[in-house]
Amino acid sequence: MQLEDKVTLENVEQEAWEVLEKSIMYYKGRPVGTVAAIDSTVDALNYDQCFIRDFVSSALLFLIKGRTEIVRNFLEETLKLQPKENQLDAYKPGRGLIPASFKVVVSPSGEEYLEADFGEHAIARVTPVDSCFWWVILLRAYVVATKDYSLAYQSDFQHGIRLIMELSLATRFDMYPTLLVPDGACMIDRRLGIYGHPLEIQSLFYAALRAGRELLVCQGNQDIVTAIDNRLPLLRAHIRKHYWIDLNRLNAIYRYKGEEYGKGAVNQFNIYVDSLPYSELDRWLPRKGGYLAGNVGPSQMDTRFFTLGNLVAVISDLASEEQSQAIMNLIEKRWEDLVGDMPMKITFPALENEEYRIITGCDPKNIPWSYHNGGNWPVLMWMLAAAAIKTNRVCLAERAIAIAQTRLKDDEWPEYYDGRRGRLQGKQARKYQIWTVAGFLLAKELINNPSWLPLVSFEPF
Ligand code: GLC
Repeated sequence: MQLEDKVTLENVEQEAWEVLEKSIMYYKGRPVGTVAAIDSTVDALNYDQCFIRDFVSSALLFLIKGRTEIVRNFLEETLKLQPKENQLDAYKPGRGLIPASFKVVVSPSGEEYLEADFGEHAIARVTPVDSCFWWVILLRAYVVATKDYSLAYQSDFQHGIRLIMELSLATRFDMYPTLLVPDGACMIDRRLGIYGHPLEIQSLFYAALRAGRELLVCQGNQDIVTAIDNRLPLLRAHIRKHYWIDLNRLNAIYRYKGEEYGKGAVNQFNIYVDSLPYSELDRWLPRKGGYLAGNVGPSQMDTRFFTLGNLVAVISDLASEEQSQAIMNLIEKRWEDLVGDMPMKITFPALENEEYRIITGCDPKNIPWSYHNGGNWPVLMWMLAAAAIKTNRVCLAERAIAIAQTRLKDDEWPEYYDGRRGRLQGKQARKYQIWTVAGFLLAKELINNPSWLPLVSFEPF
């Protein structure tokens, strides 16, 4: 590397650390989180709040740097926001839920308090199902980093974990091992045809169950521990079998028969062959590549590639070792589509034309190849780095980081990029988006020191 390039690179990193520092949110004088974005040129809406999912990228970085206090404070304060009683009131958040975001408010008497948003303020009133999973995953990362189990073993924490497990393991109206959720229940918090059993939720659910299993002390929680032990293998087998797409599977589905009744059915979900975009997939799927489908349900197989769900499946061991390698092969072989000019696409391909109109409800923010509908999100870089380390494909992550670091600082750390290759800065993207900054720094930290991978990864069981 030329000296000049090295200096420029150091500047990029230095600025990223400075921005991250500025984003720290204080509550009663203690650091408790990071705001979503620091962009004074647009209306803040809720971007001046600390989002649970956004903070995870910052938190992992803080853990790596030994700044564990902010993560501990965050975990303690968000736990207090979790409803502990079932209110049987449709407008109140259910017991066990963790909010999407929170902010510090000052009362007329000058007292500070935290105000949570469980979706009752958010655009479209979406429920943040992923928050409680990220919370448990982060608590486990805190324990791995500090080797201090005492926080997780405190009775309030044991109770909090238990409530999350109860909420997600409860019997409902369906009989799948996967979790049934409404549209926009995760990072994609707008209507995008991801209601039902979307992959992102299933991957986070799996990782959270693994984390919960490690952290729950059996005394008094034996029933939940048994429920987790029962659910984990079923969930894993279901995803590995029914969500998997590669050329072999495509061939099998291509020859499926419909309307099979009873236990012996091969086509269990009654997927109609004509509902899959065969010719596109046939062209797109590399011989040795594959991925997990976006969603599987009654007569439904969403063949879009969703990045977060696939990468978390690799990191958490939800995908088998062979499947994990195939996912990384696919990313390598379809680099232009999935990484392009900015790592990396949130989903591929975009919904277009009639599909866009019907499925997004004509959402002007989610026009094809923009925002959630096929935009490129730099935050996903750290998950790519973690998955690359897990599968021994580090050079893929290095390539991605090299692409990102030439642009992010000059573009002022946008939230997302648009266009088929991610060349355009997102139409309505905030600048100085904190998980863009943290995602980039975290990807670098992980690649420079892969021994941090266990903060987020799980071994086969
Ligand atoms: C957008 C994203 C969501 C994120 C939030 C704050 O709503 O879709 O995933 O948490 O912004 O950055």
